[in-house]
Amino acid sequence: MPFNAYRSQILTMSGDPRIAGEENAVQYFEDGLLLVDGEHIVDVGAYDALAPALPEDVSPVHFENALLTPGFIDTHIHFPQTDIIGAYGAQLLDWLETYTYPAEAAFADPLHARDTAHFFVRELLRNGTTSALVFATSHADSVDAIFEAALEKNMRLLSGKVLMDRNADAALCDGDDLGRADTLALIGKWRGKGRLGYAVTPRFALTSSPAQLQMAGEILRDHPDVYMQTHLSENRAEIEMAGKLFPGADDYLDIYEQHGLVTDRSVFAHALHMDECAFGRIKDANAAISFCPSSNLFLGSGLFPLDTAQAAGVDVSLGSDVGAGASFSMLQIMRSAYKVGQLGGHSLDPFTSFYLATLGGACALNLSDKIGRLAPGAEADFVVLDYAATPLIDRRMRAARSLKERLFALMILGDDRVISKTFVAGALVHERGENG
Ligand code: GUN
Ligand code: ZN
Repeated sequence: MPFNAYRSQILTMSGDPRIAGEENAVQYFEDGLLLVDGEHIVDVGAYDALAPALPEDVSPVHFENALLTPGFIDTHIHFPQTDIIGAYGAQLLDWLETYTYPAEAAFADPLHARDTAHFFVRELLRNGTTSALVFATSHADSVDAIFEAALEKNMRLLSGKVLMDRNADAALCDGDDLGRADTLALIGKWRGKGRLGYAVTPRFALTSSPAQLQMAGEILRDHPDVYMQTHLSENRAEIEMAGKLFPGADDYLDIYEQHGLVTDRSVFAHALHMDECAFGRIKDANAAISFCPSSNLFLGSGLFPLDTAQAAGVDVSLGSDVGAGASFSMLQIMRSAYKVGQLGGHSLDPFTSFYLATLGGACALNLSDKIGRLAPGAEADFVVLDYAATPLIDRRMRAARSLKERLFALMILGDDRVISKTFVAGALVHERGENG
């Protein structure tokens, strides 16, 4: 792929603004230039500083009235739940029984899995999400389907077969050692392909026997390049049931600790209703949390205490949790995060939200050297946000007095319509058009 230059307003983060301070963490170029060689970023900076050194045959593509940023990173999403997004009237355990397990059972059909995976990947890219940590179903074919679709677009995407062996639809539960055999075969098949990564995926404490959690922990221990994703402490009825199923555990997190599942490669979705001690243990293990505000509001699960998690030093990132989350758009997820903060008495700063949806996600996945920011050597995953995406956004932007105001208004008003272009590893993979 050739050398390319993109001129635009450019925003990227070099750290967490709450830790590094806004003045150090926020890198903004009012008239910026991004230089890309093949799949990687060569440089980013002010147009005036970088333009004179451009090779003679390279003329920058100019995005006017737009903001170029790193692609978004969604650290918790279920591709097989695409068809049940916006399912009415239930909280977690009923929602799983009524909508989710039947929808996932349909993935016994590999054609359905493949069709959904392709739609899902296109939808991620339409929304400017260039990397994601994705749940498949318990069918090995569903993992093949999502990896094939992501590989086609050269995306950095992580996924894994869902492990479950009790308390759910029999059609979704593995007997004896199938979970281990499938997981090992899938790791062998997909490891090192493109930019893909494998995540051992026990669904949650309620649907895995102690033996299955033990097996998941062993695989994680034996494969240092493999991740772990699961749900943790989401809903009060769920937490009570987890206590009954694992009477020897001190709390929900301890169930996973006892089985070797809390590591620096672990990402826990939700983590609501937890005490400071549990956050401290997540921090000590260098594990990460995926805060899923849209889902938590939609299912009425609770309000994530971002301040408490951050005070404990935990790596927090953002997850859409589609289909319990009501949008693929990370702008919409940032909007929900703001509302959760408001209800909890903390107004989430837009730069912090933006960090959580980009570099924060990369840090949660230990990939901050590769994705989540625009910097020399990083992979060229980026998006172009259109300040005039809708008449209202256009009007609001003209009234905004600062970058922070513009960014915040994009989060509050924006969605897929704002994403005018998405680039993955230097290649244009989505361009908003008539039907885009
Ligand atoms: N807990 C166990 N499975 C799920 C799921 O599919 N979605 C959510 N939100 N929570 C879960
Ligand atoms: Zn989930």
